[in-house]
Amino acid sequence: MQYLTIALTKGRLASQTMELFERAGYYCEELKDKKSRRLVFTNEEQKLRFFLSKGPDVPTYVEYGAADIGITGADIIMEEQRRCHEVLDLGFGKCRMCVCGPGEARALLQHHEMIRVASKYPNIARDYFYNRKHQTVDIIKLNGSVELGPIVELADVIVDIVETGSTLQANRLQVLEEVCRISARMIVNPVSMQMKTERVREMIDRLRDCLTE
Ligand code: PRP
Repeated sequence: MQYLTIALTKGRLASQTMELFERAGYYCEELKDKKSRRLVFTNEEQKLRFFLSKGPDVPTYVEYGAADIGITGADIIMEEQRRCHEVLDLGFGKCRMCVCGPGEARALLQHHEMIRVASKYPNIARDYFYNRKHQTVDIIKLNGSVELGPIVELADVIVDIVETGSTLQANRLQVLEEVCRISARMIVNPVSMQMKTERVREMIDRLRDCLTE
């Protein structure tokens, strides 16, 4: 039997994913060693192979078939726009994609003004402003600590993830508008969906049963 390969998002999402997988009867003891620098882990009995990657790379591995299945955030799936099937909302990793900035920036969102928007998510930001708000904006791609944008006057507002709100609060920024709700999702390679249908379907069903319990 061939391996079923699952790309996990390094960090907390991988731990939460493995907790759910265990409840559904899928195990990987090797993954529990948090000190290990290994990236690939197998369960020979169940013919499962897990690997740890950066979130934005998960849809890439799945599109190319290097992984049959991927688990990552809805934000990343939307941003990366890869060809894969989104099959399940796992319910954890909940947060919101928001337009944030200083309170004074609120007015800039009302009148279709040309503004500067900093984000790690240029595609999501572009789609929101162009297609939903019909506002022409200058999108500036950043790679992290996006809250800096309005503080150092690189941008008027940011489009970013808000989880607890503490980063915004610590930097005197606010949520100005909500773009969408985010949670962890399961994605599947279209060919794996055809070629490994039975195992993939069984996995989806078992995970879904755990989520509705
Ligand atoms: C994320 C996000 C916000 C912060 C939100 O950043 O981009 O900055 O978390 O979380 P909070 O609402 O609970 O404060 P991350 O920690 O991933 O770091 P980064 O900005 O360097 O990407």
